[in-house]
Amino acid sequence: MTYIVNDKCIACKYTDCVEVCPVDCFYEGENMLVIHPDECIDCGVCEPECPADAIRPDTDPDAEKWVEFNRKYAELWPVIVTKKDQLSTAEEMDGKEGKIELFSEAPGEGG
Ligand code: SF4
Ligand code: F3S
Repeated sequence: MTYIVNDKCIACKYTDCVEVCPVDCFYEGENMLVIHPDECIDCGVCEPECPADAIRPDTDPDAEKWVEFNRKYAELWPVIVTKKDQLSTAEEMDGKEGKIELFSEAPGEGG
């Protein structure tokens, strides 16, 4: 079992989630975070912290593709353990459909 970050995070990246994770398994891309599925201990404490409702358990019906997506980018991006400012587009893009088209593969700064 793991939790995953889905496309609701894209262009928001509030980062409230990273402060509560006991095992520091969030990784930062340019415009979203992912969770490493092999490091997540399934505690669930990050899920209610996300203002964009982007964190879901892998028991969700469409979660399988997101587990693989999260694993792929967790292995490419730097770890993030400290909250930082949300993206400037966060309020405008929170809850918008079709955000996957905005996804950037570029790594974030981490930290
Ligand atoms: Fe971290 Fe727990 Fe969230 Fe997994 S469910 S990413 S271990 S806070
Ligand atoms: Fe993304 Fe939500 Fe964390 S928007 S950065 S998963 S608090």
